Amino acid sequence: MTEQLRARLSTIVDADLGRTLGELSAIHDIVVEGTTVKVYLTLIQPLHLVATVIHKACLSAITEIMPAAKAEIYVQEVAPQNAAKRGLGGVKNLIAVSSGKGGVGKSTIAANIAAGLASFGAQVGLVDADIHGPSVPTMFDLEGELLRGEKTEDGKFYGYPHEKYGIKLASMGFIMGREQAAVMRGPMQAGYFSTLIEQIYWGDLDFMIFDLPPGTGDIQLTMAQKVPLTGAVIVTTPQNLALADVRRGITMFTKTNIPVLGVVENMSYYVLPDGTCDYIFGEGGGKRMAAEQNVPFLGEVPLNIRIRQGGDEGMPIVLREDAALQAQPIKDVVAQIIKQVRLRNFALMQTPTVEIAL
Ligand SMILES: Nc1ncnc2c1ncn2[C@@H]1O[C@H](COP(=O)(O)OP(=O)(O)O)[C@@H](O)[C@H]1O
Ligand SMILES: [Mg+2]
Repeated sequence: MTEQLRARLSTIVDADLGRTLGELSAIHDIVVEGTTVKVYLTLIQPLHLVATVIHKACLSAITEIMPAAKAEIYVQEVAPQNAAKRGLGGVKNLIAVSSGKGGVGKSTIAANIAAGLASFGAQVGLVDADIHGPSVPTMFDLEGELLRGEKTEDGKFYGYPHEKYGIKLASMGFIMGREQAAVMRGPMQAGYFSTLIEQIYWGDLDFMIFDLPPGTGDIQLTMAQKVPLTGAVIVTTPQNLALADVRRGITMFTKTNIPVLGVVENMSYYVLPDGTCDYIFGEGGGKRMAAEQNVPFLGEVPLNIRIRQGGDEGMPIVLREDAALQAQPIKDVVAQIIKQVRLRNFALMQTPTVEIAL
């Protein structure tokens, strides 16, 4: 019976990875005790979307073979080792959200990625490292808040992240005044960024999202040196100028060996009252550019008033139950990101461990 169950369960597909549980050697053990069937699986994390799907598929496969069975499915998550030291050591997946230019909706998308992941059940942190215009204070209704913390015995300051909607938050805006940003030199910016990642009690998280300043500067450099990123998500609008900047952004990440998880096209279209999509700035630019650069395309997000309001009112749209329809394209992007992270983690676990020097 066990072998029959194993053969059937082996055919179930892990959709993100495009491989069967058999191919993934995911079935660790099957124990049949009378009418009870216990299945022990080993799956690549993060499992926030795929776990229930695989769980259901296993249950129905078991009842196909043993209709009266009482099935118990146990899943063990496996993950590549996080090479981060100090503050980020407990964080499993680190994702930078980047753009070539300002104003493309990078912070809006970053906040909604963080909130979307949290809504799927993940433990999430968001680091707002955009020195030129910190937006977490506004987008999470925390304006005027400062970083709270304590001095440890060695005389160093350690801060606590703020927490809102279950998401842990830190922002350049919590440690500097608004007017200070413009006059701050590169090394100082890098110092503040280090504080956010090394001197905050982040604890254990499934994801850490970084909202980076646009372009390629000191903060990006510090990031590449100190943060073992899982990958980068690049946000663009469909206009040509923005797309040229995107190419530069992709080159920066690939040169520093940071995988590009994909491109999100924001403000792609506007939904007209009759339900048709008006591609104001032209259709398919982001998708073509992703294909040209050989990176995944993560989806199109429309121009929508509720998305803008979510930012201004301090609650990302993906968390608003009354805007489920308008938030769906962003949730689809989040699902694509989870898939890319899982593919990346799968690839990492196929190769021998590489020590990353920090
Ligand atoms: N898809 C969208 N629909 C409507 N407004 C948007 C959308 N994306 C971003 N915005 C708005 O555009 C402005 C700029 O977005 P922001 O996220 O601050 O850009 P960036 O971080 O790239 O500078 C904000 O007012 C934001 O609310
Ligand atoms: Mg921004």
